[in-house]
Amino acid sequence: MADTPIVKTFPTEPQNISIISELMYQLKVRDVMTANVATATPQQRLRDVQHIMRDRKISGVPIVENGRVVGIVSLDDIIRALDKGEIELPVAERMTRNVVTIGDNVSVVKAIDEMEKRGFGRLPVLNKDGYLVGIITHWDIVRKLVDMLQEVAMQAEQRERNLAPPTSPPTDHSEVTILEFPVEKDDFENAGRASSAVKKHLQQRGIDPAIIRRVAVAMYEAEINVIIHSYGGTMTARIYPDRIEVTALDRGPGIPNIELAMKEGYSTASDRVREMGFGAGMGLPNIKRCADTFEIESAAGAPTRLTFTVYFVPRKQ
Ligand SMILES: Nc1ncnc2c1ncn2[C@@H]1O[C@H](COP(=O)(O)OP(=O)(O)O)[C@@H](O)[C@H]1O
Ligand SMILES: [Mg+2]
Repeated sequence: MADTPIVKTFPTEPQNISIISELMYQLKVRDVMTANVATATPQQRLRDVQHIMRDRKISGVPIVENGRVVGIVSLDDIIRALDKGEIELPVAERMTRNVVTIGDNVSVVKAIDEMEKRGFGRLPVLNKDGYLVGIITHWDIVRKLVDMLQEVAMQAEQRERNLAPPTSPPTDHSEVTILEFPVEKDDFENAGRASSAVKKHLQQRGIDPAIIRRVAVAMYEAEINVIIHSYGGTMTARIYPDRIEVTALDRGPGIPNIELAMKEGYSTASDRVREMGFGAGMGLPNIKRCADTFEIESAAGAPTRLTFTVYFVPRKQ
């Protein structure tokens, strides 16, 4: 006679799953891996592997025989071989034979666990028949996640726009609205204040988020420049029905060579400012990229006036 079935209830404490975890669970190793793997054979020299690493800018090479992984050589192995004068030896003599691999069908979460647990930065990927089909690294995962987050963020933005109630009562935007913000030298505390306020204003007007992003980025960079490079000044946003015009005007010391200042990566920011994460020399180029019109007026010992315009209906890609 069969036992009476027993029902057991377990106490649960549901925890929130982060968006990232959810995204990663949906991801399989084969969606993320690099399929074009650089490999070598056991008969090749360690020197050959060194060249492969240099040319492909990678730090690990699976060693393959008839499509099967029989070993792996890491950059550390190569450095050791160079140290000991063994770089001309056949790969077979120095490769690691106990290779930890992962299936192409398993979840990325599992791959991350495995890499963490073993302390490896990369795992060769095998298909169900045991043949090498790719390699997965932390970088592959990060790159894919950034893409997916971008997608999620765009969807959220779109949803928000669809849900936004029609601006009521209808505001009259036929006139120009002027928003003005003083910006003090070295006032990192309030950095970004002007650009956030303008961003909010544009959101309330129902301006396309992609346009607002361009305004916010350009305005933020201009604001930061006044904070880190000038004696202080003012940010002014003039919002017309069809466009926004932003001016950053400071009290000097001016830009001696505007062409040079515009170069990507050119920066006179101090080490202290760089340590705070500013001064990559991309500010002015970024503003130019975001804006429909862009103008700088400056000279050594003079105020700097930077003006840019962004149209609410896109004019360029
Ligand atoms: N308002 C300003 N006053 C004086 N110099 C400026 C100003 N804005 C930019 N510059 C000069 O132009 C350079 C490049 O600016 P930018 O592209 O924003 O890079 P970063 O701010 O990272 O240095 C700055 O390092 C600085 O020398
Ligand atoms: Mg800058």
